[in-house]
Amino acid sequence: MDAVKTGIEGLDSLFADGGLPRGNSVLLLGGPGAGKTIFATQYLYEGATQYGENGIFVSLLEHPDRISEHMARFGWDLAALGEEGKLTIIDAVTERVKKRDIDSEVAKRGLDMTHLLGIIEKTVKSTDAKRVVIDAISALSLSLSDIFQVRTEMLRLSLGLAELGTTALIISESPAANIGSTEFPVETFLFDGIITLHLDNEAQKRKLAIRKMRGAKHAIGSYNFDITDNGIRLIS
Ligand SMILES: Nc1ncnc2c1ncn2[C@@H]1O[C@H](COP(=O)(O)OP(=O)(O)OP(=O)(O)O)[C@@H](O)[C@H]1O
Ligand SMILES: [Mg+2]
Repeated sequence: MDAVKTGIEGLDSLFADGGLPRGNSVLLLGGPGAGKTIFATQYLYEGATQYGENGIFVSLLEHPDRISEHMARFGWDLAALGEEGKLTIIDAVTERVKKRDIDSEVAKRGLDMTHLLGIIEKTVKSTDAKRVVIDAISALSLSLSDIFQVRTEMLRLSLGLAELGTTALIISESPAANIGSTEFPVETFLFDGIITLHLDNEAQKRKLAIRKMRGAKHAIGSYNFDITDNGIRLIS
């Protein structure tokens, strides 16, 4: 099996094949400050520096400069990777805000999926990217009026990314503690995998769980993790 190493210490060994199944689109779920952006950036950084796989970070939330600034704390020089052509940050924030190059209908609805997939496809082809991160899809579903439309668009995203052959992390803001309860957000059924990050403030612990991963045998259960000066690390 062709496994995609996340490079996150302690995580890859939870998969029988040593990583994520190549081509999977994995939902990364968690509440505010759970560590989603750090996790996803580490995945791209390790991919580019350790495993020779170029990446794309689509930011729908934070300005790319801010992301680069924050991630420098972990010793990850995203600008340098950009210059080497190993990482492309797609700034969907500024584009939305400035309404640049998009017609008024798109501007009104936010950034639409056709437009977004078009940009991703173009960038995957021009940079030979193997890894994609979208931070976060919540921004996309906000602009959609009903659950059917959300479902359709998320499915298009999942299938579109699969067609490109990339292994993707799709960040969604959702209290990870909800997963496993009776209410599942609609997107949880549409993507190939779900990894949840949860901050338990009472217990002062951060927890990670693999909720599903199509095509892979993996450990179940909840794993404590730390955010250190080097990024995310599972505690064994
Ligand atoms: N240098 C650091 N060392 C240790 N922990 C850090 C460091 N920098 C940030 N953190 C922790 O990581 C959290 C932010 O992580 P991250 O940005 O990945 O969260 P997120 O899940 O993306 O949040 P949001 O949904 O708000 O975007 C901070 O709230 C803080 O607790
Ligand atoms: Mg974030």
